[in-house]
Amino acid sequence: MKRFFVIFGFLLLCNLAQAGEVPKTLILTWEGDPCTTMTAQWLRGPGLGDRPEKGKGEVVKWKEVLASDWKMLKTSSSDFPDPEKMGLARWHLVRSRWNNLKPGTEYLFQIEDTPVQKFRTAPNRIEQPVVFVEGGDVDVLKSSAQMIKLGAQQDPLFMSVGGDLSYADGHDVTREIQFWEQWSKAARAPDGRVVPFVAGIGNHEVKGGYVQEGATFEQMRERAPFFYSLFGGLYQKAEPVALDFGDYLSLLLMDSGHILPISSQTEWLKINLEKRKSVPWVFASWHVPAFPSFRTWKHQKEIVEVREKWVPVLEGSTVTAVFNHHDHNLQRVESEGKGGRKIPFFGNGALGVEPRPQQCPESQKLSKAFSQSDYVNVVQLRADGATIRSLGPKGEELDRVEFPKNAD
Ligand SMILES: [Fe+2]
Repeated sequence: MKRFFVIFGFLLLCNLAQAGEVPKTLILTWEGDPCTTMTAQWLRGPGLGDRPEKGKGEVVKWKEVLASDWKMLKTSSSDFPDPEKMGLARWHLVRSRWNNLKPGTEYLFQIEDTPVQKFRTAPNRIEQPVVFVEGGDVDVLKSSAQMIKLGAQQDPLFMSVGGDLSYADGHDVTREIQFWEQWSKAARAPDGRVVPFVAGIGNHEVKGGYVQEGATFEQMRERAPFFYSLFGGLYQKAEPVALDFGDYLSLLLMDSGHILPISSQTEWLKINLEKRKSVPWVFASWHVPAFPSFRTWKHQKEIVEVREKWVPVLEGSTVTAVFNHHDHNLQRVESEGKGGRKIPFFGNGALGVEPRPQQCPESQKLSKAFSQSDYVNVVQLRADGATIRSLGPKGEELDRVEFPKNAD
């Protein structure tokens, strides 16, 4: 009898411990204005906690850190794509969305009876320095977790990842889940705050990697099921995304030929750069580099196209810099300036992958910094200027660029 109670008690404890666990794949991201919205999403199913009953969501309690009363929010849930199971989804994606939040404010939230979590909205002005971190090409490796952790330790407002998020190729759901478990564990600011994820698309998000000739936006989206399930709220239209942070920062998230043809975005780029002429800090980000470091300038047609179509437009604008990825090492180049002025390209995506050597003779001539190393870019924006530091795996500074304030 005594033995029965011991076993029963043990099982009860296990159950409680599981019920009280933060969702293993908790992701914060933005689908709208980063100053006033936030989206939290997590997966439920085998190994990730029970799926909510049909028609019932999980309850989220939330409040501003300084407020006394908790409010309630209902979650929504949908099947998470499960290509191997052909329509029989094993996992559900649960989501809670906040609107009308206050800028630059900390909020607490609690999913059912799990530990209370914290997030922060973006400020609408630069009063204190604003820091965000940037990288791309993240595997599921010890070094990937280490690089994400290093980024989160910089106390960033968010982390922008420019494609190749898990190498699941739009198919391997187990790998995709492992990636988000890795992210969720590592993406904690020093105060425990959950760091929001700003996603860009790369070839490894898409079955086949690149846009198929003649395919529609809807057909292409189906080839990147995990990316659109998680981030389709931001990427709703067949065009790039501009994420505007108050009046001080804009990220132009381009698609280097994975879902959208490159040439279909050039006009959008022109118009959206022009619209943001008075924004002091504007960054464009995409996956396949205009100035490769491992491949050559003519290695693939996307490299040629982004360099020929987008670089002159950017050189003729007030853009601060460009983030590129895909080649797995640190290389910063200054563009040739044929379209107006020379602009810095920070590349080429190594946030926890096997770093590759620099072997592109054309880019080497324009190269200002190189390291065959994983790196994360730490961008600090101030009222009087900006600094981009590239940190290696141990936090060592591999590169540093100062920017004077470039618009009024
Ligand atoms: Fe790639």
